[in-house]
Amino acid sequence: MKRLIIDTDPGIDDSMAILFALRFPEIQLEALTTVFGNVGVEQTTLNALRILEVAGRDDIPVVPGAGKPLLRDYRGKGYRVHGRDGLGETNLPPPRAQARPERAAEYLISRIMGSPGEITLVAIGPLTNLALAVSLEPRLAQNVQELVIMGGAVAGPGNATPVAEANIHNDPEAARIVFHAGWPLTMVGLDVTRKTVISSAYLARLKEAATPITDFISAVTAFYLRHYRERLSMDGFYVHDPSAMGYVLDPTLFQSQKVYVDVEIGDGRSSGQTMADWRGQWEQPVNVNVCLDVDSSRFLDLYFEHITRK
Ligand code: BDR
Ligand code: CA
Repeated sequence: MKRLIIDTDPGIDDSMAILFALRFPEIQLEALTTVFGNVGVEQTTLNALRILEVAGRDDIPVVPGAGKPLLRDYRGKGYRVHGRDGLGETNLPPPRAQARPERAAEYLISRIMGSPGEITLVAIGPLTNLALAVSLEPRLAQNVQELVIMGGAVAGPGNATPVAEANIHNDPEAARIVFHAGWPLTMVGLDVTRKTVISSAYLARLKEAATPITDFISAVTAFYLRHYRERLSMDGFYVHDPSAMGYVLDPTLFQSQKVYVDVEIGDGRSSGQTMADWRGQWEQPVNVNVCLDVDSSRFLDLYFEHITRK
């Protein structure tokens, strides 16, 4: 049994990742902690509650976290990709359940330190909650089983800017703290998430399952598909957050390499860039296991098989 906490900013692809995790009996999803990102934190928190409700799992706690980056203002541009409600402008009714009164950083500390070495943390939004938590309790990094993040890019271009990936770009200072905190950290970045594409034909097949989960995915992804068609002339979208979950479920889907990675925190054009020192020229110990390749067709089959199961 793998015990999981997901830190998230739902987010269309976040919802696809969370619903994926819930399909595996060997995964015990213990909580969602929320953060600003694709939309503001009040909205990502409501969305987290809604997603759990779709899966009939509103027993899982949702704990709200940071509403802005550590040192910067929240830019709030993610609505262009995810819609003003963060879920493809489906404008779903309010969730029945309520968020917990705790705050994400303190909650992560109490859950992880309460079960040393047991909890896998998956972060699929900006890393602000994790940075706050590990700053308050530096031993956190040694007490997770593993930390898997969706974020960054070391071998190719960014998406928020020509060089920076959105989750890192949304809070570069937080990312820098997290990258240097000493966790067993795996980065599932654009280097691999862009290698897997969910096409409109794949979504049409998925819709045929006609379960509450596939109906939901089909509804929220319409906006996402339109964005990719208009902005990138693609008939489908890159699979970001579900890829990080794919790594947790089956790391053999990926090829990875350990390397020293640093995060650019300046205010210039390279802000939020993740840089890998492949030749050891900065003479720093390796800190990240970076995913560099993925068996996309095996991943897509795994996703389809589990998400469509009745
Ligand atoms: C990441 O940014 C967000 O838009 C997505 O939810 C994903 O976590 C991709 O760069
Ligand atoms: Ca996300």
